[in-house]
Amino acid sequence: MNKKNLFVICLSLLIAGTVSAQTFKYIGADKCKVCHNKPATGEQFNKWAKDKHSQALKSLASKESLDYAKKNGIADPTKEAKCLKCHSTYDAVAANLRGGILATEGVSCESCHGPGSAYKSPTIMKNQALALKNGLIIPDEKVCKTCHNPENPFHKDFKFAEYSAKIAHPNPAAKK
Ligand code: HEC
Ligand code: HEC
Ligand code: HEC
Ligand code: HEC
Repeated sequence: MNKKNLFVICLSLLIAGTVSAQTFKYIGADKCKVCHNKPATGEQFNKWAKDKHSQALKSLASKESLDYAKKNGIADPTKEAKCLKCHSTYDAVAANLRGGILATEGVSCESCHGPGSAYKSPTIMKNQALALKNGLIIPDEKVCKTCHNPENPFHKDFKFAEYSAKIAHPNPAAKK
């Protein structure tokens, strides 16, 4: 093989890699619910539905939020990109990556776990290495701090251990 052919092959591999990375889409919490809502494996969907992330759009309509908006020249915080970027997974992602996620989900599973279109199949999900290759994220403190930071006008000191405990949804049946 001459150098030119090798270059073309490398270039096409590079492009193929980039394209597949971009095709991970946000499928929405209802798709995760199908497999992640059994009490025996941790009922993740119901726990999320009760935690503040799933309610994050409601607080943009609270009195506190409307008062802040008025003082800062924001017409409607529930439609303001500057607020939605942390309060709504749907609004935080490019339109071409919305593969079923709803505008009503607030901070959804995939803001923490990554877009699920490729890792959602059961064979991939059961194999952590494969799932990670297909877009799954096991979130650490860094992921939380993409939103829990002083850019939020209502920021409170973020204590990772304490905050994680509040939203915990472990699988009691998982082999670890
Ligand atoms: C077709 C069923 C199915 C769907 C749909 C599904 N999962 Fe899973 N998921 C599994 C199975 C099976 C496992 C492995 C056993 C377990 O931890 O429950 C798993 C494991 C996980 C884990 C733990 C991974 C690890 O190795 O620690 C996370 C996190 C996860 N899923 C998140 C999601 C999210 C978020 C969605 C939606 C975007 C989703 N899953 C959709 C079946 C599914
Ligand atoms: C995409 C942005 C985003 C990410 C990522 C995120 N959060 Fe949040 N979180 C929010 C928003 C917005 C709220 C406020 C919801 C509301 O009340 O409107 C919140 C609220 C919370 C609360 C409730 C605080 C209270 O006052 O009761 C806890 C606990 C929390 N987050 C923990 C975490 C942890 C732990 C992580 C990382 C594993 C994380 N969050 C990642 C956006 C995010
Ligand atoms: C950088 C991400 C980020 C941005 C931008 C952001 N928020 Fe938040 N917001 C959060 C997080 C995280 C919390 C939860 C804080 C906590 O409880 O620790 C939150 C909490 C809130 C709360 C609930 C306060 C409470 O304690 O009940 C309101 C109201 C709110 N935000 C309004 C807004 C408005 C209005 C905007 C736009 C002007 C905005 N946020 C922009 C991340 C953000
Ligand atoms: C605010 C961030 C956040 C959101 C939103 C979130 N998770 Fe998680 N999830 C976590 C963290 C943190 C862990 C623990 C990771 C670890 O083991 O270090 C976790 C763990 C899991 C696990 C593995 C449990 C185990 O013990 O094996 C599953 C399955 C899971 N999440 C599913 C979901 C599903 C489904 C949703 C939405 C209905 C969701 N998560 C929403 C942060 C989040």
